[in-house]
Amino acid sequence: MEKTLSIVKPDGVNKNLIGEVVKRFESAGLKVIAIKMAHLTKKQAEGFYAVHKERPFFGSLTTFMCSGPIVPMTLEGKDAIRKVRDIMGATNPKDAKAGTIRKDFADSIESNIVHGSDGTDTAAFEIGYFFNATEISRR
Ligand code: CMP
Repeated sequence: MEKTLSIVKPDGVNKNLIGEVVKRFESAGLKVIAIKMAHLTKKQAEGFYAVHKERPFFGSLTTFMCSGPIVPMTLEGKDAIRKVRDIMGATNPKDAKAGTIRKDFADSIESNIVHGSDGTDTAAFEIGYFFNATEISRR
């Protein structure tokens, strides 16, 4: 069993896609073991995306991520990290395969509806960024 963090980004919340995103993950056999709504400050968005701080898009990405509410969730299942990334599709919706969330709904590489952890270390950091032990189902 593996855990990963996904976030419905401000554009996904704005387009009423919370349920659609959760449905796609659950339909693939993933369990939602923690979920909440959050609205990040600029500092909190910068902390979450600290690995990207040298990238040219860091300022724009972190401004976007605190532009409205988001829905972070922890998902659990076999190969959860890879499954979530397959369901999301490529970062740039132009490159995303048919039937993926980003192909179906995303407007751009920045406004790309959903985030998913890219490895086990980042998943552990990202889950801990949003959820403490009492907020995660232990069943
Ligand atoms: P995400 O999976 O949340 O991880 C980092 C985010 O940075 C990524 O999705 C994109 O939304 C964003 N991103 C990646 N590359 C670029 C880029 N070239 N321009 C703007 N945003 C980008």
